Amino acid sequence: MLNNFFNPKSIAVIGASRTPGKIGYDILKNIIQYGYKGAVYPVNPEAQEILGLKVYPSTLDVPGEIGLAVVAVPPQKVSEVIGQCGDRGIDAAVIITAGFRESGSEGTKLENELVKRAKESGVRIIGPNCLGVIDTHSRVNASFAAGMPNKGSIGFFSQSGALCIAVLDRALAEDIGFSKFISMGNKADISDTDIMLALAEDDNTKVILGYIEGVNDGRRFMEVASQISKKKPLIILKSGITSSGAKAASSHTGALAGREAAFDAAFKQSGVIRAHSVGELFNYALAFANQPLPEGPNVAIITNSGGPGIIAADACERSDLQLVPLHKETVDELRTFLPPVASFYNPVDILGDATAERYEKALYTVVQDEKVNGVIVLLTPTAVVNVEGTAKAIANIANLIDRPILTSFMGRKSVESSSKILMKYNVPNYSYPEEAVSSLNAMCRYQVWINRPDKTYARLDDLKEKVLHIFEKVREEKRERLSEPEVYEVLKTYGFLQPKSLWARTSEEAVAAAKRIGYPVVMKIISPQIVHKSDIGGIKINLNSKKEVGDAFFDITTRVKDIMPTATIYGVMIQEMILGGKEVIIGITKDAQFGHMIMFGLGGIYVEVLKDTSFRIVPLSHEDAREMIRETKTFPILRGVRGETEADIAAIKKSLLILSQMALDFPQIIEAEINPLLVKKRGEGVVAIDARFTIGGD
Ligand code: ACO
Repeated sequence: MLNNFFNPKSIAVIGASRTPGKIGYDILKNIIQYGYKGAVYPVNPEAQEILGLKVYPSTLDVPGEIGLAVVAVPPQKVSEVIGQCGDRGIDAAVIITAGFRESGSEGTKLENELVKRAKESGVRIIGPNCLGVIDTHSRVNASFAAGMPNKGSIGFFSQSGALCIAVLDRALAEDIGFSKFISMGNKADISDTDIMLALAEDDNTKVILGYIEGVNDGRRFMEVASQISKKKPLIILKSGITSSGAKAASSHTGALAGREAAFDAAFKQSGVIRAHSVGELFNYALAFANQPLPEGPNVAIITNSGGPGIIAADACERSDLQLVPLHKETVDELRTFLPPVASFYNPVDILGDATAERYEKALYTVVQDEKVNGVIVLLTPTAVVNVEGTAKAIANIANLIDRPILTSFMGRKSVESSSKILMKYNVPNYSYPEEAVSSLNAMCRYQVWINRPDKTYARLDDLKEKVLHIFEKVREEKRERLSEPEVYEVLKTYGFLQPKSLWARTSEEAVAAAKRIGYPVVMKIISPQIVHKSDIGGIKINLNSKKEVGDAFFDITTRVKDIMPTATIYGVMIQEMILGGKEVIIGITKDAQFGHMIMFGLGGIYVEVLKDTSFRIVPLSHEDAREMIRETKTFPILRGVRGETEADIAAIKKSLLILSQMALDFPQIIEAEINPLLVKKRGEGVVAIDARFTIGGD
């Protein structure tokens, strides 16, 4: 796929310049100087010869077949040039030229024209506004980058050309190999997803690395990422702002969804390894490209000084990794050659005067322990340490075994050459212990992902038809929100238990309703304009007598009239008061790129303060629902703390799956939430105490 971009038989440089230092000159020079073997055709109507090559006035004049066109003419000329490419049967063009969508409305017009022209002409485009494309295996450097990375197995694509340059510069400084380097630019035609697919199919690429600011089609991105991530690690740094859907934020769910929730959820659900910084992106790439995956989370640390060992141990504690207690035989073996004051337990401290031989023996002994899934070797470059010798010794062992070994030779100056030695033998070295730990942790999590069985989806009853009329009525009446009785009906149909409720328009009706329901009761204001009732004192709980109900009716209606004089008051809802249980919030929200998402969090009035929520994109699998409950910080509260009984977690999971089904049934839902959803003891289910639905025009 996209073969002509990476392995073309010949390349035309359209806008090849006669002037050294101009972009069109450097591109041509890069193609020639880095060993591309195919034919190269410079195109420039003003020139005869550049860099010893015959120049053609236009693409139409080039005699041979052209595999790839690299375009570096001013923006106004690009469409025409692409049209000519189409006439010549060229199907792949990298457009370097800037001045399109990124530069404002005129540029956007130009880009739209360009895309139209390219489609009509059958030319696929990378860019415009990009640095170019590099393939180290076919020796194509169709870019104006200042260098060519070594051959390697990391395939990198980036929406930012500047980041490409920075990554390339570091790769050159540290001899890090890449398979492909793709600067995506404005992604006017070929998208991240297309490139991810191409890299997935590329035999030279073992690890896919990407930088994105947004994706054009969230659903397709997830589909493709899910396929790829089971075969190759897909590591992505995502920055920037997502244009999160219609953000009326009339619900907590909407307000909590935030900018990043959708990407975070999409990455988790499709197995993308998320890097949170450029440093992390690089660190992970090195680990994944060079070392085998750990079979489990058990890690051993070998160090020549205490502090870094503790730092690494602390970092393990914060991750999924576990410092494994070493077998007695391992400890006994270590005692035979380490000084008596060494530490024989994990972290193994082999002391500041550790020689290369001591490192080698310690590492060899520790990797014999079958409980150890991976090792992190730390080195502080004291004056007595043979840093390079130690690097070679570690590399020797690392190449003998099939478990990951990551190192942190700390600092820079005194470890620079040893770091290169380690890299040469595929052992990644990190400046600080935490980086080694987080990289090994990413590998460990990925191993869990690839071992996961396929997701399973719930088969729920088809209930849509039963409440369709409610959604249609709301739309016909040009309302955005479902009324309380409508919400009640929808939830009841989808199987949610709700407190017994009666509607009362007067104080007398309220008292009668309370008597029918049975004390104690809850009273809630009913008004289409009031979304968060408790915020304006529109809820009273634990009303135990006729008098309390009468007083509460007066209080609530007076207060609401004072605070929101224009609000229409339909009366109050008298509800059975459910005692006990824990309050959670579950909801539906909509993201512009990924569509509906489901939210879970510990609920009640503190939800927006605690912000302890998790999101997943619809449809939810059983596993998604389970994980999103477990990943909240407050999950232990549901499990029960200090002798409490466990809450009905299975019922929450089922509720999340039902919400997911509801979102699929009604695409017009913009936001919905049940808050609080009262969770009773294990086996006793949940009760939807309060809920709201907002719908849009779909
Ligand atoms: N066909 C072929 N060649 C042509 C044509 C044509 N239709 N029209 C002009 N040319 C030739 C010119 O004769 C010129 O050759 P010369 O230098 O020998 O005289 C050459 O193409 C370049 O044309 P210029 O008009 O001189 O344009 P210039 O080189 O100044 O700029 C460029 C062109 C580089 C594409 C510019 O418009 C541009 O977009 N620069 C920014 C690129 C960029 O930043 N991209 C994003 C990178 S990612 C990042 O930011 C890191």
